[in-house]
Amino acid sequence: MTTAMTAAEIATARRGSFTRTRRTRGSEALRGLVRETRLDPASFIYPLFVVHGSNVRQPIESMPGQYRLSVDQLAEEAAELRSLGVRAVLLFGIPASKDEVGSEAYAAGGIVQQAIAALKGADPELAVIADVCLCEYTDHGHCGVLAPNGGRDGEVDNDRSLELLARMAISMAEAGVDMVAPSDMMDGRVGAIREALDGAGFESLPIMAYSVKYASAYYGPFREAADSAPAFGDRRGYQMDPPNVREALREVAADASEQADIVMVKPALAYLDVVRAVRESTDLPLAVYNVSGEYAMVKAAAAQGWVDERLITLETLTGMRRAGADIIITYHAKEAARWLSDQ
Ligand code: PBG
Ligand code: ZN
Repeated sequence: MTTAMTAAEIATARRGSFTRTRRTRGSEALRGLVRETRLDPASFIYPLFVVHGSNVRQPIESMPGQYRLSVDQLAEEAAELRSLGVRAVLLFGIPASKDEVGSEAYAAGGIVQQAIAALKGADPELAVIADVCLCEYTDHGHCGVLAPNGGRDGEVDNDRSLELLARMAISMAEAGVDMVAPSDMMDGRVGAIREALDGAGFESLPIMAYSVKYASAYYGPFREAADSAPAFGDRRGYQMDPPNVREALREVAADASEQADIVMVKPALAYLDVVRAVRESTDLPLAVYNVSGEYAMVKAAAAQGWVDERLITLETLTGMRRAGADIIITYHAKEAARWLSDQ
C-alpha cells in the first residue's frame, strides 16, 4: 500500500536530481565572476559626420544626440572621447559640392582630409579611420561611378569605380589616416586599395573592409545625415541581398584573400546569425556596424518612455559581442562608455 508523499518529501527526494544554474546568479559579485561577455569602450568605434564651415554643431534629426560637426569642433570631440576611453572614430564627410565622379572624395583639401589632420593634431593616439566610398560625393548618390550609358539606367561600373576608390584611400593616407574602411561593395576593391596603398608607400596602413554589407532599410537615418541617398534606383545591384548567409562567407573569403585586416558585418542587429557564421569562418578581427536605423529605433522608443535606454543599449551591444564581434561601430559609443564607467 502506498501513501501520498507530502510536498516536503517530494522536495527532499528530488534534491540533487536537477541542475541548479541559479546558484551563481545570487549576487552581482557572483554574476560578475561567471560573466562570459564584457563590453569595453576600447572596442567601440564612434562615427563622426564632418561638414565645411566653422562653429557648426548641427543636430541630425533622425539620430538624436548625433551632430554634423565642422572641423573646428573636432578637438573637443577627441578630448571627450579620450576621457571616456573610446579610442577610435570613423569619419564621414559632407562635401561642399558633388559631381559625377565624386571629386571631393580624393581632393587634398577635402572635408575628411581636413578632419583627419585636425583629429590627429588634437590627439595623435586616437585611431582615425576614414570611410572609403563615393556616395556622399557623387551627384547621383551611388557608391561608384555610373556605367557610361551601359546596361540598365544607373548601373554602377565596378572596375572604373575601383580606380577612384583607390585614389580616395591614398588621399586619406596622405592626410594621415590610421585605417581606411571601404564601404562601397564593389568587387575587388580591397585588393585594388591594398595595391594602390602599397605602391604609394603605405604598406603598413590597415584596411577594415565592409565585407558583408547588406542592402538594408536600416541605413535610412544615415543617408539623411550624410546626404547620400541615391538620386535614382537603389543599391541592390552592389550591396548584399538580406536573405543570404553563405554568400557572406564568400565575401569574407574574397576580402581575406585580398588582405583585408579587419572584416565587417553590417547592419548588426538583424544579422547576428551572420556575425556568428563569419566569426566561425575566419580568424580575422571582426567588426559589426550598429547602424543608424538601429540607433534611431532605440532613441525613439526611449524618448517615449517605452524602453529603458541604458539597459536596452547595453543589452544590445552585449548581444553583438556575444555573437562574435570584436569591434562595434556605434553611435551609442559615448553614452555606453559613460554607463559602463558608472556601473
Ligand atoms: C556609405 C555608407 C552607408 C553607411 C555607412 N557607409 C550608407 C549606405 O550604404 O547607403 C550606413 C551607416 C549607418 O546607417 O549608420 N556607403
Ligand atoms: Zn556608399
